[in-house]
Amino acid sequence: MLNNNINLLVRFYSGLGGFILSSCLKFLFSDIIDGYSIMINFNNVSKVYSQDSVALRDVNFSVSAGEFISVVGHSGAGKSTLIKMVLADEKPTEGTVFFESVDIHKLGNKELTKLRRRIGAVFQDFRLLPNKTAYENIAFAMEASGKTDEEIASDVPHVLELVDLTNRLSHFPHQMSGGEKQRLAIARAIINQPELIIADEPTGNLDPVNAFEVIQILKKINDLGTTVILTTHNRGVVESIGKRVITMEKGKIIRDDKDGKYVI
Ligand SMILES: Nc1ncnc2c1ncn2[C@@H]1O[C@H](COP(=O)(O)OP(=O)(O)OP(=O)(O)O)[C@@H](O)[C@H]1O
Ligand SMILES: [Mg+2]
Repeated sequence: MLNNNINLLVRFYSGLGGFILSSCLKFLFSDIIDGYSIMINFNNVSKVYSQDSVALRDVNFSVSAGEFISVVGHSGAGKSTLIKMVLADEKPTEGTVFFESVDIHKLGNKELTKLRRRIGAVFQDFRLLPNKTAYENIAFAMEASGKTDEEIASDVPHVLELVDLTNRLSHFPHQMSGGEKQRLAIARAIINQPELIIADEPTGNLDPVNAFEVIQILKKINDLGTTVILTTHNRGVVESIGKRVITMEKGKIIRDDKDGKYVI
């Protein structure tokens, strides 16, 4: 089933030739076009909720376009807060977060909405719309980004097929298993071809087989040019990815390893 899905994924993205080509060109020429290679940049970012609740302490790192980064650390280390900074769900107490040349936290609502459309997000608790079917959950995300009815009718079945949910398209989330819900959440996150996928503990509620499938899909999306930031507690997941790992402890980055070591 998985190989079949990966092939479908490649076809899905191949159908979006312009998007892929432009992503590849951006990536290939990133060193030439000044400032293009850095997608996300954290500069001295701290987040203090209260005196006894400091979530981030002077965090500095950057993410290049095309990278796959796993962020690991014990519960409470600051992983989700880091993700919230990129989605502008929370503001830093100090420091700045840039998306390319834009200071995310200086954007007005309109620009923020535009920026968020360039990011697909996946969470441990799925965050699907409970009163909409699998099909409608994805159609809704497309409507919100201004897609036409024709585009919706053509793309939704395609993306559901690639996450192996064709036979669940009229099911509501409460009628689906955890693995199915997370595959639906991923389908929704990629439907508008974002440049960045953020996945906060996407395997947290899944058994090992479903977790493996979710990670395989994220890896393939990354292979096709999309930047991925993943948070996880799962050692097996991190080691199977074999890419850059940022380790957090008490709000600080304590390690930044190129080659997929899970050390905590
Ligand atoms: N809204 C909030 N108000 C106060 N404190 C908060 C808030 N959100 C997070 N914190 C605190 O900030 C710290 C970091 O939380 P965060 O959710 O980023 O951790 P995490 O690494 O994602 O943990 P987990 O692995 O359990 O998801 C924790 O000590 C948490 O209690
Ligand atoms: Mg978290």
